[in-house]
Amino acid sequence: MKEILEKENKDSLSAIEKQEEYAYKVRCILEQAEKLRGKKLSVCVITFGCQQNEADSEKLVGQAVYMGYDKTSDLDDADLIIYNTCAVREHAELRALSRTGSLKHLKKKNPRLIIGLWGCMVTQDHRMNDIKTRYPYVDFVAGTNMLHRLPEILYDVLSSHKRRYYVTNEPADTVEGIPVVRENDIKAYVSIMYGCNNFCTYCVVPYVRGRERSRSKNAIIDEVRQLVYDGYRDITLLGQNVNSYRDPEYENGNYGFPELLNEICSIDGDFKIRFMTSHPKDASDKLIDLMAHNSKLARHFHLPLQSGSSDILRKMNRKYSAEEYLQLALKIKEKVPGIALTTDIIVGFPGETEKDFECTLDMVRAVRFDSIFAFIYSPRVGTPASKMDDPISHEEKTERMARLLELQTEISAEINKNYVGKTITALCESHFPAEEDFYTARTSENKIVFFKKLNNNSDLYGKTIKIEITRSTPARLYGEYSGK
Ligand code: 5AD
Ligand code: SF4
Repeated sequence: MKEILEKENKDSLSAIEKQEEYAYKVRCILEQAEKLRGKKLSVCVITFGCQQNEADSEKLVGQAVYMGYDKTSDLDDADLIIYNTCAVREHAELRALSRTGSLKHLKKKNPRLIIGLWGCMVTQDHRMNDIKTRYPYVDFVAGTNMLHRLPEILYDVLSSHKRRYYVTNEPADTVEGIPVVRENDIKAYVSIMYGCNNFCTYCVVPYVRGRERSRSKNAIIDEVRQLVYDGYRDITLLGQNVNSYRDPEYENGNYGFPELLNEICSIDGDFKIRFMTSHPKDASDKLIDLMAHNSKLARHFHLPLQSGSSDILRKMNRKYSAEEYLQLALKIKEKVPGIALTTDIIVGFPGETEKDFECTLDMVRAVRFDSIFAFIYSPRVGTPASKMDDPISHEEKTERMARLLELQTEISAEINKNYVGKTITALCESHFPAEEDFYTARTSENKIVFFKKLNNNSDLYGKTIKIEITRSTPARLYGEYSGK
């Protein structure tokens, strides 16, 4: 075992060293191009989809900056554009494709512009074929398992002047040491694992992101320690199912997510830890106890429900029943008083009857989530659910969605109203007013507070402050900071 691990470490070291060589070669090409253009070249990475994609994009930007590009958010100014795509629902794919279409005119204006499509959407054969035939101005396409290979891909494109397709079914390595440029200087994402083994029948993730693999706990802890040292105050650990995290270097597999959280929380400093996402089937008592007793863990639990009907949950291959979910949610609320629970719900899964849907509404009433993310079921090519009979019309699904959102809006409004008149603590997230003279802050429960400063002009960005809550809406709290 030890030998295998040493070999893997060596391989991953040489993987990143190999990329450093390519980065050097790209830098040489860019220097010539800069002379021709009379300015430094810049990169624009646009992200579609989830936080995992946002974290990946920070590594794409990091590698591009390492190769000599400046980061820009202006597409018109960019010499390298990468769209980091999502495949979870059709809507995200169509948005990415339509925005890719509108890049055509930029390529006409600047023929040296390099356009790349990255990530989940392009990892699917049918989308790859679309891009090959309908988007001839896209220079390269790369799957999520290529994350550390941007320098190699770019060198290939720049030196061959040909379109390149880096999409394979190879299992990905967890390569450490990829350069990163973060979007924010107080909030950070840290991927602790990649891929998913759960194969929920509606979900494309296991096909496009591959099997589950965890990073070594030492690498994760070093990264978090560095972030805390650099002044980050709010750190989110990411994985499709963080509860099945296992340190690959622990031979008996006994170092799991609670152990990792415990060790991260023992790092000195003033910071909060969040995590996304937890599969209910793997949320252990150990984890709940830790949430109850460790003040560095944010009081927020995102626990995707997907459906409140046990029949639909079985068809979804979720491996828990509605009763089991309810017991778990109530246990979390009882053991961690004041915790905010949020969830994901899919409306209109194939064969969802009115009765099934009412079970979902009943669950929402019983748990009283702080907020929900609700999605109309979107059939995904290659998933088992896409082959199931789906007699419910889109109108019916839209109508169910509206009923669900109406119920949740009422519940969120009631929960948020309870904060009015109270003084809460929150991390200030804005240097400048975000709306009129309201600044923004985030509570441990992940609630956004819009607040006014009374008699105080100091910059509160990155500080944990006390805010008196004066009013609320279903999605926001409003308040005042008096400096006390
Ligand atoms: N259709 C609709 N929603 C989906 N999700 C995942 N796959 C689909 C799909 N095919 C939702 C789930 C998941 C969230 C990230 O996206 O609710 O938790
Ligand atoms: Fe998709 Fe299920 Fe894995 Fe989440 S746990 S990524 S919904 S397959």
